[in-house]
Amino acid sequence: MGKVGFGLAVSCAAATCAIAAILVGKRVRSRRKWRRVVGVLRDLEEACETSVGRLRQVVDAMAVEMHAGLASEGGSKLKMLLTFVDKLPNGSERGKYYALDLGGTNFRVLQIQLGGKTSSILSCDVERQPIPQDLMTSTSEDLFDFIASSLKQFVEREAQNSEFSPVKRRELGFTFSFPVKQTSVSSGILIKWTKRFSVKDMVGKDVSECLQHAMTRNGLDMRVAVLVNDTVGTLALGHYNDPDTVAAVIIGTGTNACYLERTDAIIKCQGLLTTSGGMVVNMEWGNFWSSHLPRTSYDIDLDGDSPNPNDQGFEKMISGMYLGDIVRRVILRMSQESDIFGPVSSRLSMPFILSTPSMADMHADESPELMEVARILKEDLQIPDVPLKVRKLVVKVCDVVTRRAARLAAAGIVGILKKIGRDGSGGVASGRSRGSDGKMRRTVVAMDGSLYTRYTMFKEYLHEALCEILGEEVAQYVILKVTEDGSGIGAALLAASHSSHSSSSSSSSSSSSSSVVDSQRLP
Ligand code: BGC
Repeated sequence: MGKVGFGLAVSCAAATCAIAAILVGKRVRSRRKWRRVVGVLRDLEEACETSVGRLRQVVDAMAVEMHAGLASEGGSKLKMLLTFVDKLPNGSERGKYYALDLGGTNFRVLQIQLGGKTSSILSCDVERQPIPQDLMTSTSEDLFDFIASSLKQFVEREAQNSEFSPVKRRELGFTFSFPVKQTSVSSGILIKWTKRFSVKDMVGKDVSECLQHAMTRNGLDMRVAVLVNDTVGTLALGHYNDPDTVAAVIIGTGTNACYLERTDAIIKCQGLLTTSGGMVVNMEWGNFWSSHLPRTSYDIDLDGDSPNPNDQGFEKMISGMYLGDIVRRVILRMSQESDIFGPVSSRLSMPFILSTPSMADMHADESPELMEVARILKEDLQIPDVPLKVRKLVVKVCDVVTRRAARLAAAGIVGILKKIGRDGSGGVASGRSRGSDGKMRRTVVAMDGSLYTRYTMFKEYLHEALCEILGEEVAQYVILKVTEDGSGIGAALLAASHSSHSSSSSSSSSSSSSSVVDSQRLP
C-alpha cells in the first residue's frame, strides 16, 4: 500500500470512529434523557402510592372528620351541612313536578309525572342546555334570569303539548350543586362557589330567593318546594328505587357525598327536632383533607394556581375538573426534562387544556399503535409524531393519576360506612352491619357522575379498592348502584314529598314518604 493509500485508510478509520463516537454519544444522551423521563414517572408512582394500609388511614381520617364536622360548626374541613331533608320519597307520591338542576357545565330542566305506588314515574321529560361560559362568572341576576327564562320556555312548551292546564301552582325541586348552608328544606345561603363558577355577588345570598325573584321577573308562577344538593337528589332517587340506600356519592366535574344520619349524632344542632329522628347530611367531602392523602408536587402546583387555594383538596385529587390537568402537568415536567416530546409545546403550559374525557380516552386506547393517544397529543396539546414508547408512557401517567383518584374515592366511601357502622369493622358480626334478625344487611350507595358512570377504568379501580379495604366477605353486602340523573329526578321526587299540595308536606310521619329514621333504613 502506498503512502497515499495508507493515509486514506487512516482517514477512513478515523472518520468511522468519529461517526461511531457521535452515534454512541447520541444513544447515551438519549438513554440518559429516557432515564430522566422514566424517573419522573417513578417519582409520580411513588408519590401517588395508595397501599391498602394508607387507604385505611384515609378511611379513619374521614370518619374522624365526619364526627368533628357534626360536633361543631367549623370543627372540620368537612362542613357536614344539614339539609332539613328528614324524609325520602318512597313511591307513593303523585302528581306533576318540576326540577331545575344547576351544578356543572350544563343545566337541566325536567318534569315528571308521578303515579303513586303502583305506577311510580309515569313520564319524565328532560331538557339539557349548556350554560354560556360568561354567565358562570357574571352577576347573579344574569345567571338566574337566563335559567328562569329557559325554565319558562320549557314549561310553556310542555303546556302546549298537554291537554290539561294545571289547577294548582307548579312546584319545583331546585338542585344547586355547591356548598349551601340551608336555613330550611327550601332555602339556603351560598357559602362559596366550586368548580368553574364564580358569580361573586351570589356568595352569602339565599339561592332560592334569587331563583324565585328571577322567576317572578320572567313571569313564571312556580314555587321552590325544595332546595337540594345533587348528592341529596341522587340519594332520594336511590332510596325511591331501593330502600336500602343510605348514602349517595357523585364523582363528576366535582365530587361530594351525602348520607342518612341520626339527629342525635348531629351534636352541633342539639335540640334539632325532626319527628323522624334522622336527617340527610351533605358532607361536602370535596373539601376533606388529611395528611394521609398522597399528595404530589403536581397537586401542590395545581392548588396554588387555582382560584381557591387550600380549598377542595380531596376534589382536586379525585374529580373530573382536575384529573386531566394533573396529567398535563406531569407531561409538561417530562417534556422539560428531555426532548422526547419534541420542543416544549406552548399548549402544554395552558391550564386545563387537557380535559379529563380526553385523558380517559388516552387511558382506554387499546389499539396496538395507540393511535388515539397520538391523536389527542397532536390535537389537544400540539405534540405531533410521538414515538410509541412515549405514547405508552403517557398512558401509564393517566393510569397512575386515575388509579389514585378512584382508590381515594373508595376510601372516602368506606369512611362513611365506618361512621354509620356498616363497614363490618371488627368482623362481619359487629357494628350495625347486621339487622335485628341477625342477617347481614345490604348497604346501598347511590352513585352518579361521569367519572364513575362513563370511565370504566375508574370504576374498576374504585371497586377493587373497596374490596381490598372491606374484605370480600363484607364487600359483597355493599352495593354501589349507578343512579343516573338522580340529581334532577330526585329533586322532583323530593318536591313531591315536600309539596304544599300533598298531605305529607309537614315533617310528621306520612304515608307518601319514608321517614329516614325507619329502623330498618337508618344506619
Ligand atoms: C360541590 C358539591 C357538589 C359536587 C358534585 C362540588 O364541587 O361543592 O356541592 O355536590 O361538586 O357536583
